[in-house]
Amino acid sequence: MDAPERDSVRGVQADVLRRLDLSTPSVARMYDYYLGGKDNFLVDRECAEEVIRKAPHVPFMARSNREFLRRVVRYLAQECGVRQFLDIGTGLPTQENVHQVAQQVDPRARVVYVDNDALVLVHAQALLAENPNTLAMGGDLRRPRDILDDPHVRGVIDFREPVAVLLCGVLHFIPDEVDPYGIVETLVGGVVSGSYLVVSHAERHGDLVPVTAAYDRASAPAVLRSLPEIAGFFDGLELVEPGVVYLPLWRPDWAVFTEDLRVRAYGGVGRKS
Ligand SMILES: C[S@@+](CC[C@H](N)C(=O)[O-])C[C@H]1O[C@@H](n2cnc3c(N)ncnc32)[C@H](O)[C@@H]1O
Repeated sequence: MDAPERDSVRGVQADVLRRLDLSTPSVARMYDYYLGGKDNFLVDRECAEEVIRKAPHVPFMARSNREFLRRVVRYLAQECGVRQFLDIGTGLPTQENVHQVAQQVDPRARVVYVDNDALVLVHAQALLAENPNTLAMGGDLRRPRDILDDPHVRGVIDFREPVAVLLCGVLHFIPDEVDPYGIVETLVGGVVSGSYLVVSHAERHGDLVPVTAAYDRASAPAVLRSLPEIAGFFDGLELVEPGVVYLPLWRPDWAVFTEDLRVRAYGGVGRKS
């Protein structure tokens, strides 16, 4: 087969559908299953169920991650005046997606979604078809320069203005040998002062270590990291209060309960000064 056409243009493309791999559990579709979505297949559900058997709080973690993302985007749009969002590792569309939260604050807010999962692209492109300030495109976090230089991305995002780079629930799919810190440095290097980096990341905690075996047969391995390792992604940036904390503790909308602290994932926001 010829090389597939670029999938960064709008519209569902046949080559994307042809590339759907239904034999390997997809980390995007497993996440959709944790969130109660319907965009997953038997192979994903079996792997996700294995994860849940080993760590029953994982679906709760997934929901906490979505809540964190919603709070962060609202904070950045409302309190910090950010109008451009580059969301890498987008996930399947669910409720209160980044563009919906940001465009509630300002309908002109611009959002680029980048993911390397075929089904994510199909759904995101369908959802965004009528939205002129957004773009969903195929791309790989492991090649950050390609994302920054992509003409479609640059058609939506003006890199002379601040950008929020969202890396939520995705850096824990990037093994150390692929240099996740270098990837973040490249992305932060590509945006102007006044831009933000948002990271959420699973913790290397005894509760989660048993799930890594299931992810070894999925589309990407789960790479758990310690708090100092996760905080290291913000080196050189000013951390927004309250710093890098368990997800429910990041500017919560209401009281945080002890049960919430079973979320073994950290999140934070850093500002490029
Ligand atoms: C756990 S979901 C997180 C979705 C969303 N960011 C959120 O926080 O709710 C992780 C997403 O990252 C994507 N992903 C994993 N590795 C990636 C890579 N190397 N490049 C781009 N996307 C990737 C997966 O396809 C999946 O959609």
